[in-house]
Amino acid sequence: MSKEPIILGIESSCDDTSAAILQGQKILSNVIANQQIHALYGGVVPELASRAHQQNIIPVVDSAIKKANITKEDITAIAFTKGPGLLGSLLVGSSFAKSFAMGMNIPLISVNHMQGHILSHFIDEGKPMPQFPFLCLTVSGGHTQIVKVDSPIKMQVIGTTIDDAAGEAFDKSAKILGLPYPGGPLIDKLAKNGNIHAFEFGKPKIKKLDFSFSGLKTSILYKIQNNMNENPHFIEEKLEDLCASIQHSIVTILLNKLQKAIKQTGIKEIAIAGGVSANSYLRSELNKLGTEKKLNLYTPKFEYCTDNAAMIAITGYFKYLNKDFAMQSETPSARLLF
Ligand code: KG4
Ligand code: ZN
Repeated sequence: MSKEPIILGIESSCDDTSAAILQGQKILSNVIANQQIHALYGGVVPELASRAHQQNIIPVVDSAIKKANITKEDITAIAFTKGPGLLGSLLVGSSFAKSFAMGMNIPLISVNHMQGHILSHFIDEGKPMPQFPFLCLTVSGGHTQIVKVDSPIKMQVIGTTIDDAAGEAFDKSAKILGLPYPGGPLIDKLAKNGNIHAFEFGKPKIKKLDFSFSGLKTSILYKIQNNMNENPHFIEEKLEDLCASIQHSIVTILLNKLQKAIKQTGIKEIAIAGGVSANSYLRSELNKLGTEKKLNLYTPKFEYCTDNAAMIAITGYFKYLNKDFAMQSETPSARLLF
């Protein structure tokens, strides 16, 4: 085996329990256990998420080690998600990681989940990686950020949402349409046969590089309520058009701000990350923008868009090189900033 460090990454910030093994920047395994239980409730139920993490964590880590074809003694360091996320969920992953680090007498590394999403671009898949500095539009269920990334450890949030996140806008719109959680992938699918101009919704007027999605949500709700009063079958008759128009509104808000950030910073290296970066319409509109503005675009593999431990392991790798280790007394943080 080469001398590159072997990092075990643990992700448990929301409703996915994941463990991954990386050697250097190369992936050896990435195991994810999704929690189906939340679909019954239309959103993630924190208490149930913590309990499911507790059940999943050992089998998931065990499977990641086996799939990587290593033994636990080969692991150089363990990295875990410190936050942001659901506290009960984070506690399961962090407690496991601390015990593992102590038991195996290896370094412990704490990782910011949002930095993990960004650094997933540095998992070596044989594809070109972003050059520094680059801009990353990180769009997930809990966050919407434009980040200026100067190095794997130096990055700055230059725009963020003042209310809902982009993924939340997808999920809440889906809920209004009666679709199950998480609604983002379903809207993406249904929108493919819809007309993006069928419906107009309110547009936010937010200064600087910040985002807002709560007005859009209200505008969608009122439009649907008004139409349902006249035609109780409105949603089922217009579902694809509604999905296409909603998706178009969300993606337009995101790309308008990204364009503004590109203009302000002059940076043409552009990455997207987070669950919503799996969205096919966001990807195709970004590609159009890229051709028009001569941008170098980086889109993650689908596997690394939504929550996964490979992104935690790669961040752990960079922190390991920097000897940035965590103490056993480190505690998770639901609202971790960077
Ligand atoms: O990054 P992620 O897995 O978890 C958080 O850190 O929040 O993102 C989950 C979010 C959910 O809101 C989900 O609806 C959204 O990503 N999502 C999508 C798509 N796939 C996942 N949204 C739109 N289109 C998709 N294809
Ligand atoms: Zn995430």
